Amino acid sequence: AFYGPVIHSLSTPDHDVEILPSALLVVSPQGVITAFHKDVKAGDVESLVDTKTTTLHHLSPSQFIIPGFIDTHNHAPQWAQRGLGQGQHILDWLSAITFPNEARFQDPAHAKRIYSSAIDGFLQQGITTASYYGSIHPEATNILADLVLEKGQRAFVGKCNMTRNSPDYYLDDSIEQSLKDTESCIAHIRQIDPDGILIKHVLTPRFAISCDPECLAGLGQIAAKNPDLPIQTHFNEAEQEITATRELFPQFESEADLYSHYGLLTKRSILAHCCYMTPYEFDRLKELQCGVAHCPISNMTVGGGFMAAPIREFMNRGIKVGLGTDSGGGFSSSMLDAMRMAMVASHAREVESKGTDKGLKIEEAFYLATLGGAEVCCLEDKVGNFEVGKEFDAAVVDWSRDGVMTMVEPEDGLETVFEKFVMTGDDRNIVGVYVRGRLVREVRC
Ligand code: GUN
Ligand code: FE
Repeated sequence: AFYGPVIHSLSTPDHDVEILPSALLVVSPQGVITAFHKDVKAGDVESLVDTKTTTLHHLSPSQFIIPGFIDTHNHAPQWAQRGLGQGQHILDWLSAITFPNEARFQDPAHAKRIYSSAIDGFLQQGITTASYYGSIHPEATNILADLVLEKGQRAFVGKCNMTRNSPDYYLDDSIEQSLKDTESCIAHIRQIDPDGILIKHVLTPRFAISCDPECLAGLGQIAAKNPDLPIQTHFNEAEQEITATRELFPQFESEADLYSHYGLLTKRSILAHCCYMTPYEFDRLKELQCGVAHCPISNMTVGGGFMAAPIREFMNRGIKVGLGTDSGGGFSSSMLDAMRMAMVASHAREVESKGTDKGLKIEEAFYLATLGGAEVCCLEDKVGNFEVGKEFDAAVVDWSRDGVMTMVEPEDGLETVFEKFVMTGDDRNIVGVYVRGRLVREVRC
C-alpha cells in the first residue's frame, strides 16, 4: 500500500487530471489495485490497511505517484543511434543511418548488450509499457522479449518485416521466411509468457514500402487467426514516404485503403505518425477503431515531414491517441520530452489552423502519455490510471532530487508541483518504477 500524493488522469471527456494530496492505494500481491481511498487522514491509514500482510509505504513530503508512462512507438534497435541524422528525410535517413545500424542485430551478443541498456534506459524514464519494433532478426527479437520479461517491463515486442527496398544486408531472406520468423517469434513469446501477462508479440510490417503485397497479406492472415495480437506500422508519416508508397501501390487511393485491404487495420492497430490525413482517412481510422502513436519529436526533427500530426483533430473526433518517443528517430527516450514537444507542436498547429485546432494543455499531454497510450494499446482495462481493478504500474516522483526541477518553493501546492514536473522535470526525479506492483527500478534517495 502507498500513502501520499497521487496524480492521475480520469477517463472523462476533458481528460481531467485528479490531484490528490493524501491518497491511499492498496495493491494486492498479484499487483492489482484493490482499493483507492482518495482522501485519508494520516491517523486513519493504519485502520485501512492490514499491516500484518501488507507493507505500507509512506511517501516522503517531496514525493508523489503517477501512472507509469506508456510509449506507444519505440524502436529498440535504434537505442544507440538516437540523435543521428538530424534534418534528413525519412528514406534517406533509413538508408544512411538506420539500416546499417539495425543490421548489427544479426549478432546476438550485440542485441543482448544494446537491448539490455535500452530497457534499463526506458525504465529509468518511467516507461512501464512500451510498444517495441525489433530488428528483422528473430533471434535478436527473442532476446529483446526475454530481457523485457526478466527486467519486468510490460511490452509489445515485434519482429520487423522487411522483404524489399532495403540493401541485401538488411532484408528478410524471402517473404515465406519473413512470415515463418514472425510465427516463431509469436510462439517464443507465448512460451515465455503464456498468459500474455506482461508481453505480447506485435505484428510489425515496417511500412508498406518495405513489404511486398504477399508479405502484408500474410501478416493480415496471421492477424485474423490471432485477434489478440496488436499490429503496428508507420502511417502517412512524410510526403517522401507517401509518394513512394503511391508508386508501389497505385491501386490504392490512400494508406488507409492499402493497410485495411491487407487486414492490418483493426482496433489493435497502432499507427505511428499519421501526420498527413485526409477527411476520408480520419473517418476510416475512427470506424476501424485504430489507435494513433503521436511522435512529435521525430516528426519535427528527423525523417518526418517536419510537421507534427493533427493531434487536436484526433482528439476532437474521438480517435484513440497516445504518445511515442519514436526513440531512434526521436532523439529523446523521455516521455516528458515527448509531452513537451507535443505541446509545442500543437501550438504551432493552432497558429497554422488560425485558432481552430487548439494547442494541448498540460493535463492533455499527461493523459496522452498515460491513459491515452493505454487506450491505443487496448490496455485501458489494465493500466493507464489507478482505477480499482487495474494493475499497479507507476512511477514515484521526487522533486527534491538534484535535477532541473529544483525550484519547488515551500508554498507551492501540488498542482504547481505537478506543472513544474511536467514542464521542467526529468528522469532524475523518477526514483521508483513499479510494473504490476513489482519494483522494477529504484534510486536510493
Ligand atoms: N518509417 C519506416 N521505418 C521507420 C523508422 O525506423 N522510423 C521512422 N520515424 N519512420 C520509419
Ligand atoms: Fe518509427
